[in-house]
Amino acid sequence: MGVSLKFEGRDVISIKDFSREEIDYILKIGQAMESIAVKGSDMLRGRILATLFFEPSTRTRLSFEAAMHKLGGSAIGFAEAEIASVKKGENLADTVRVVENYADVIALRHPLEGAARLAAEFAKVPIINGGSGAEEHPTQALLDLYTIMKEKGEIDGLKIALIGDLRYGRTVHSLAYALSLYNIELYLVSPESLKMRREVLQTIKERISVTEKTDLEKIVPLVDVLYVTRIQKERFPDPAEYAKVKGSHKIDLETLSKAKEDLIILHPLPRVDEIAAEVDNTSHARYFQQVWNGIVVRMGLLALILGAVK
Ligand code: NCD
Repeated sequence: MGVSLKFEGRDVISIKDFSREEIDYILKIGQAMESIAVKGSDMLRGRILATLFFEPSTRTRLSFEAAMHKLGGSAIGFAEAEIASVKKGENLADTVRVVENYADVIALRHPLEGAARLAAEFAKVPIINGGSGAEEHPTQALLDLYTIMKEKGEIDGLKIALIGDLRYGRTVHSLAYALSLYNIELYLVSPESLKMRREVLQTIKERISVTEKTDLEKIVPLVDVLYVTRIQKERFPDPAEYAKVKGSHKIDLETLSKAKEDLIILHPLPRVDEIAAEVDNTSHARYFQQVWNGIVVRMGLLALILGAVK
């Protein structure tokens, strides 16, 4: 490890706060967690994670909690704001200043952009952003990179397409930033109204080759990785706008007929109708393996942030 890398006590708010060297190191520690995830460990015994989830989640919250348990620690928290004091009018700054007394680290999901950054300003314990509105989802990007690395050997040299809702999808924002640290070619495929956010595009275009398309057909045969996303219905300000793009992309056996044999398909899940069930049994599907990778990467991250691994 480079002597300059320091993770203990750090917040994880944006993937942009991490260098390629740091990301590669987190992925390496994630890999070391594969066997520990099976055997269990007491590396974080006595340490407590609080998960404060103000928005729906299955994978992110459960995998953070499972990761903590597998390392011998414990997890507390809430999965809906309805049952927390927020319902009584407590603000986020007060909530984290209370919860820091109960926990050594806080994983936070919140509908507002900037919420994780704000929480980190007030909290004395590290804050991990488990999704901040449509903005970012840095730990998802880490597990996405880990999956690509595990399946393809390395990230450099690949052609990768991000498909679907690139405007409101926070996973693709974090992933695009992270991928721009590698030597890859990126294809962005979405309806016109759901194109990649301008600020993300500007940053990544300075570093890597980016091609934007509305039509998937010509892209599928070119790429090594297809990263498919759900249209984020809940983030549309106008239901009529959602109706226009609903079902606009669908990956099925026909779409994949000209794909490379070793193409892999990823999806952060949940999927709605953007990947047909018939794709699940093909050699391309990796979205359920991706879920396991979320555990090992979050184990690695928690161990680093809590100083159990240097
Ligand atoms: C994603 C999210 O919450 O942003 N899910 C996840 O964390 N695995 C993607 C989505 O909701 O579509």
